[in-house]
Amino acid sequence: MSMLPPFKIKSVEPVYTTTRDYRIKRIRQIGYNPFLLPAMDITIDLLTDSGTSAMSDRQWAGLMMGDESYAGSSNFKHLKESIKDIMGFPYTLPAHQGRGAEKILDRALVKKGQIIPGNIHFDTTKAHIEDAGGRAVDCTIDKIYDSQSQHPFKGNIDLNKLETAIKQDPTNVAYVLITITCNSGGGQPVSLANIKAVARIARKYNCLLFIDAARYAENAYFIKEREPGYKNWGIKQITREIFSVSDGCTMSAKKDALVNIGGFIGLKSKSLYQKMVPLCVLLEGFPTYGGMNGRDMEAIAIGLHEGIDENYLRHRTDQVACLGEQMKKSGIPVLVPFGGHAVYIDAKKFFPHIKREHFPGQALVIELYIEGGIRVVGIDAVLAGRDPDTGKNIFPELELVRLAIPRRVYMKEHLDYVAECAARIWQRRKQVRGVRFNFESPIMRHFQSTFKPI
Ligand code: F0G
Repeated sequence: MSMLPPFKIKSVEPVYTTTRDYRIKRIRQIGYNPFLLPAMDITIDLLTDSGTSAMSDRQWAGLMMGDESYAGSSNFKHLKESIKDIMGFPYTLPAHQGRGAEKILDRALVKKGQIIPGNIHFDTTKAHIEDAGGRAVDCTIDKIYDSQSQHPFKGNIDLNKLETAIKQDPTNVAYVLITITCNSGGGQPVSLANIKAVARIARKYNCLLFIDAARYAENAYFIKEREPGYKNWGIKQITREIFSVSDGCTMSAKKDALVNIGGFIGLKSKSLYQKMVPLCVLLEGFPTYGGMNGRDMEAIAIGLHEGIDENYLRHRTDQVACLGEQMKKSGIPVLVPFGGHAVYIDAKKFFPHIKREHFPGQALVIELYIEGGIRVVGIDAVLAGRDPDTGKNIFPELELVRLAIPRRVYMKEHLDYVAECAARIWQRRKQVRGVRFNFESPIMRHFQSTFKPI
């Protein structure tokens, strides 16, 4: 596996190391939730790939070209040009990050009681849909719930589930949403054939089709690598093809646009754009900055191009796969195929002796911190929360722990260290016990809750 990084280092920041005794003391003090730890207590931070990218020298130079005019910033013009060139959308509304874009979209399109079918909607996406009175309907193929299935496009939408959901009442569908890649299902891609088939169904019933594009470039790379017929296509050619069958996208630029903050909505139709402009003004800002500085928009305009560079995408996805392979060799039950931005460990298989109500995912999150100062997040029962009707814990099919790799930040040596730490926990897994809540946060439990070891 060739791992030649397509970049070299110009500026560095320290990696903090601590002792095991210190980490045991600190994690106890803060209540066994690494979200509550200050960054300086962390050695390798794999909490998220969102907003954690290293920017390039060109992006930093772009910051100096910030045009902070309230209206008509030249950086907005550059942003619009990049989006038009790579995604093909003539209309752009900037937002402070992905969820800002989601809020505008849902306020504009969702009426009370309407449904939004899609492939495992991301948490904030689902929350904004519900906030607008709608309901997210999961239509992902069943294979996504089998962590060992080798299906190359586990993010795909099950066309039967989709059509059944729409057919009940097509006028009750606010829009159809495809998330590429499917983060909550393991960073799994969606095939171009599936995107086109979903678009055909949406058109048949007169429904709008949107794409949650946070990791669209990684998805495009997987299409080139895994889907017959696209081997000789350029990444931009593939991205243009993806978005050409949609009505628009929401984008968290904090992922594949390689910046620390920012987002936008891309749109094909002028009338939809005009409908959303007042909401952009109300919720985010004037439609030529929308919650961003001029300099932020310049960094995105440049980062969008860097994010579709094939050498960069090869290195990025190889880096994720290399960490996954090392863990797999140690016997650790990792989700396969490896996704675009993270390695996911199947915590139910890692700790079969820990009951679901003692949160095996959270137990592994804690152990990774204690073992190596590594911070990760559970996509698990803690995050899933309680059923609003019964008040009982929801135990999702998959109990995953996500090791998200920031873009262009860590070297192979850092990830080797992570694999070694995980292997040591695997060796002593039978001694690990679960946890119970000490303080249970009423919503988004993984952020604020604290725990007690069993
Ligand atoms: N859509 C997807 C698929 C995401 O993964 C995220 C964020 C968002 C939308 C929201 O974007 O954070 O810019 O407001 N995911 C981050 C993560 C937080 O860690 O996976 P945002």
